[in-house]
Amino acid sequence: MYQLADMELRGKRVLIRQDLNVPIRNGVVASDKRIMASLGTIQDAVAAGAKVMVMSHLGRPEEGVFDSAFSLEPVADCVSQRLGVKVKLNSDYLFTPPELKNGEVVLLENVRFNLGEKSNDEELSRAYASLCDVFVMDAFGTAHRAQASTQGVAQFAPIACSGPLLQNEIEALSGALDQPDRPMVAIVGGAKVSSKLTVLESLSNVVDQLVPGGGIANTFIAAAGHNVGASLFEQDLIHEAKKLMMQAEAKGREIPIPVDVVVGKSFSRDAEPVIKSVQDIDDMDMILDIGPETSALYAQFMQNAGTIVWNGPVGVFEFDQFSRGTQQLGKAIAESSAFSIAGGGDTLAAVDKYNLGNDISYISTGGGAFLEFLEGKTLPAIKILSSRFESSEA
Ligand code: 3PG
Repeated sequence: MYQLADMELRGKRVLIRQDLNVPIRNGVVASDKRIMASLGTIQDAVAAGAKVMVMSHLGRPEEGVFDSAFSLEPVADCVSQRLGVKVKLNSDYLFTPPELKNGEVVLLENVRFNLGEKSNDEELSRAYASLCDVFVMDAFGTAHRAQASTQGVAQFAPIACSGPLLQNEIEALSGALDQPDRPMVAIVGGAKVSSKLTVLESLSNVVDQLVPGGGIANTFIAAAGHNVGASLFEQDLIHEAKKLMMQAEAKGREIPIPVDVVVGKSFSRDAEPVIKSVQDIDDMDMILDIGPETSALYAQFMQNAGTIVWNGPVGVFEFDQFSRGTQQLGKAIAESSAFSIAGGGDTLAAVDKYNLGNDISYISTGGGAFLEFLEGKTLPAIKILSSRFESSEA
């Protein structure tokens, strides 16, 4: 695919799709991670003398209706502050295309206010495309959505290329998945096997150890024949969990389950934590974290690993008494010499909470996109960039 760095941008109208879908609290950006990751691309385009339009979605508002709760105004303020220049928010761009000077930047209001955005409407896609000479897809976090501002516009823009953030994500993730240093370990945590079944299936074909965490681990514990008491688990997916464990074993791979756990009698901030062997769980127990022996075992995996992919906590780390497993795991990943990748909302919250950001090799800005990439899917917004490149080279 074409890349931004290959483009002659001076005086060109450059439309950059970024993922500035960040948490907003009381009208202020609560985490600027995605903004900071996107800033370099804007700066490159500004330095090259382009007329820069940045577009993004924020949340999931109703299309066709303006709702100030989903306005990008706080994002415009944050981008202005971080860039050190005033970046205006433009809400009128579909009617009056922004008139910009070379090196000037404007942020276009939430694309999800536009009718036809989510359905990838052709007319809207063409309207976005007509705003620019060069379209830059840089929103890795939204690259799994075939929508007008991610896929449609890339089809109709005069030139469509990838931005540096998208490029870095693709290189880091495909590098780790295609030619991993071994052993390769993946941690897949989260509430439900059902929401991560495809990623569990595809990673179990690639990694040497697949460590399930959270509610997902409970289903695997049940599949190994243990009582999980009152824990969150999925009865109807026990057979899938068994199948995955058997397939892994047949290939000399491993899906380890905890040997000890921390249980509580309720899912609450003041539930008393009790460490138990995985064989001793009673009917009233809820598994809310991994135990110390399991932590030590997993830390050993991290120490020996060549590549680590981390998606999802191994316990309810929001509650201090059940946070130790995730904290220890994060620390072991940070201390490992392996190439490590972390992605997903909860995982990044844990990375932040335990201050691990500097010691993890690559932190993805993608949530759903990160998972779909790990599943081996071709993301639609990436596919269109490749196919436009191939047809122009043909
Ligand atoms: C995300 O936060 O994962 C992306 O911004 C995509 O958002 P969406 O799930 O609302 O499409």
